[in-house]
Amino acid sequence: MNRATDQPEVNPLREGLATRAVPQPCSVVIFGATGDLTHRKLIPALYNLAADGELPPAVTVIGFARRQKSDDDFRREMEESTRKFSRQPVRDEIWKTFAQSIFYHQSDFADENGFKTLADRLARVDKERGTRGNRLFYFAVAPDQFEPILKNLKAARLNQAAEGSWARVIVEKPFGTDLASARELNRVVHNSFAENQTYRIDHFLGKETAQNILVLRFANAIFEPLWNTRYIDHVQITAAETLGVEGRAGYYETAGALRDMVQNHLLQLLCLVGMEPPTDLDADSIRDEKVKVVRSLRRMSDVETTVVRGQYAAGAINGKPVPAYREEENVDPKSTIDTFVALRLQIDNWRWADVPIYMRVGKRLPKSGTEISVHFKKAPAVLFNKENVTLDQNVLVIRIQPDEGISLRMQAKVPGTSLRIEPVKMDFHYGTSFGKASPEAYERLLLDAMSGDATLFARRDEVEEAWAFIDPIEEAWHAKTGAPGLCFYPAGSWGPNEADELLARDGRAWRRL
Ligand code: BG6
Repeated sequence: MNRATDQPEVNPLREGLATRAVPQPCSVVIFGATGDLTHRKLIPALYNLAADGELPPAVTVIGFARRQKSDDDFRREMEESTRKFSRQPVRDEIWKTFAQSIFYHQSDFADENGFKTLADRLARVDKERGTRGNRLFYFAVAPDQFEPILKNLKAARLNQAAEGSWARVIVEKPFGTDLASARELNRVVHNSFAENQTYRIDHFLGKETAQNILVLRFANAIFEPLWNTRYIDHVQITAAETLGVEGRAGYYETAGALRDMVQNHLLQLLCLVGMEPPTDLDADSIRDEKVKVVRSLRRMSDVETTVVRGQYAAGAINGKPVPAYREEENVDPKSTIDTFVALRLQIDNWRWADVPIYMRVGKRLPKSGTEISVHFKKAPAVLFNKENVTLDQNVLVIRIQPDEGISLRMQAKVPGTSLRIEPVKMDFHYGTSFGKASPEAYERLLLDAMSGDATLFARRDEVEEAWAFIDPIEEAWHAKTGAPGLCFYPAGSWGPNEADELLARDGRAWRRL
């Protein structure tokens, strides 16, 4: 508490964009309750919110899935996975109370009757647990299941809420596989739920440091004046993973790195870095500015020279041999799916004219880490920066994960009697600067959906614009003649040589993570 005012202290870095509206009591119905996402992310996130006292006590979770099981069976399974995947150790007494708010509803997604009984059950929960007619429907299922679920929610009138209550739907990625399918999916969703009831998850937006980009840019007076083509030489965005396809071949074989990571997560990060200041912190004001960035992206006409498409061959990660992508379980031995992409983008507006944006994303790289680096122009070639001495550029690095933080590289004189200049780093680490662990992205996003705050969710036009940018690349890759080749890289390396050449051609190099 702040003693002078008796107000809770709100730290803008910790609390995100603004003090959140209060999350309201509600029922959270999870479709696909026996799936991986529910086990690994959703229930652990809800448990952690409960443990931190952030979840309204009435919140009730109803797992909806096809398999037959009792509430107790479901609770036991959820306990097991929460113990495995929770951010903080599970405390028995908290789990016991939390488990009482978890229920299981067995039904096929296509069975209209299962939704009628769900409606009765939700009405009972409202009376018994005080969820006030508020419903959050979480689609943790493959997109081909959306249509029957939405149709049946509508038939059971669960897409509407009573006066003073709300019904919202959270949709997981992949949101389409191209512009046409994304539009179709939007059409299907909007047959039952309006845009302001629809929350499209991009979990990168829930990451603490992603939220901090706007605070860094617009709560500090020193960055914004420099944030443009006059002072910035180029920007790099890297999302590297040591993991391979991890048993997700069924999905990944139809997606690839460009659709899996660039269309959503990386473009979202780019929007936060590239957007103009919004007029206020309203969800739509922010999203209006973000979507303009994607709209301003120069469409890729020369895919051959601006995009590198790679796939991992056999290699080693941390000294352990790992197989090639084509040798992974359920992967076509002739697969041409991309597990690595590097791109050179251009935002065609006044702020970013002539500032190249380099992005790379890949699986089976030597290190896991996501970061954005803003490389400033060199100091002029006078005084300390004469022709025969080239000093490094100033680089502002935003570490999204791990070791979340921000660092600024600058030049300093090495102590001593001679004039030697070396780069030094000013470094801010979340871990040490705030005595509190960052919540998981899903915790923040679930809470925001319960509060009706859609700022950190992708709007319909954002998703569609992103596909409009991605589609020409995929089309060029799959052209019958003249398609750019796939470049192989050994697992455990930083991607194909062609990715280095992409920057070398411009006289630049990737930053070492
Ligand atoms: C998911 C992708 O959206 O993001 C995965 O489908 C990827 O392929 C994951 O591994 C990365 O997320 P995080 O939070 O682990 O960096």
